[in-house]
Amino acid sequence: MENTKAFDIYKDFEKRKAMTKEEMLSKLNEWAKSGKYEKDMLVANWKPQKTACEVITNYYNPDRDEIRIIDVASGTGLVGMELLKLGFRNVDALDPSEEMMKVAKERKIYQNHFTEYFDGTRLACIETDTYDAAFVVGGFSVGYMPTNALFELIRIAKIGGLLILSVWEGFDEMIDEYRDRFFPLTQKMEKNGELTLLREDVIPKPDKEPNGLRLVYRVHVSESSFSHLKALQNCNEF
Ligand SMILES: C[S@@+](CC[C@H](N)C(=O)[O-])C[C@H]1O[C@@H](n2cnc3c(N)ncnc32)[C@H](O)[C@@H]1O
Repeated sequence: MENTKAFDIYKDFEKRKAMTKEEMLSKLNEWAKSGKYEKDMLVANWKPQKTACEVITNYYNPDRDEIRIIDVASGTGLVGMELLKLGFRNVDALDPSEEMMKVAKERKIYQNHFTEYFDGTRLACIETDTYDAAFVVGGFSVGYMPTNALFELIRIAKIGGLLILSVWEGFDEMIDEYRDRFFPLTQKMEKNGELTLLREDVIPKPDKEPNGLRLVYRVHVSESSFSHLKALQNCNEF
């Protein structure tokens, strides 16, 4: 019988952990080019893009055209499509995979397309305090965006802007790069008045994989005053 399951995430995590940056990029390009990425998303039977996007209407309702948004780790544009359905048109995309970006560009849903890694390194192409909201759906995962990416999310969001993050519940326990790093850093930033966690919702999933977790933060500073974390050894940090 055909296996209709998208993938076994634990096996996928193991494979990804062993990859170099180049191998990862080539896997991402192939995932998009073959059309398998979107098939996997459909079979996965949950819609993190939809649940992530819906929450923004609690904060920005009128003048949706005016709101400047960036979709970080934008993939083929599924988040952009959901935002468009909700009437948000002023959305930029960022992703390091040319093939993912090619599909997203064909959809004509984003204003600007940045083919870049988002890893905490300061991006010259994006000014400080630019966006009312930054989305990351599926970008905080094995071998993708490191914890240090939080620094750049804060920098490019406006003061008062939102960070809307969709991750696996328990991602910080499952993945070395985030264990004892991600939430200790956000909590330090919260204590220092740089961020506020506005809401944290578990998104139940119908299969055995972990549930989703949606986090919404408000940003209160142009840049964090903390130092970047040291890169982990043997970790595919970019
Ligand atoms: C699971 S996909 C999610 C795509 C999209 N957000 C969605 O929900 O359909 C993860 C995406 O993260 C991107 N990615 C991986 N490493 C990244 C990095 N360092 N910076 C930005 N994006 C990255 C991949 O190219 C891929 O498109």
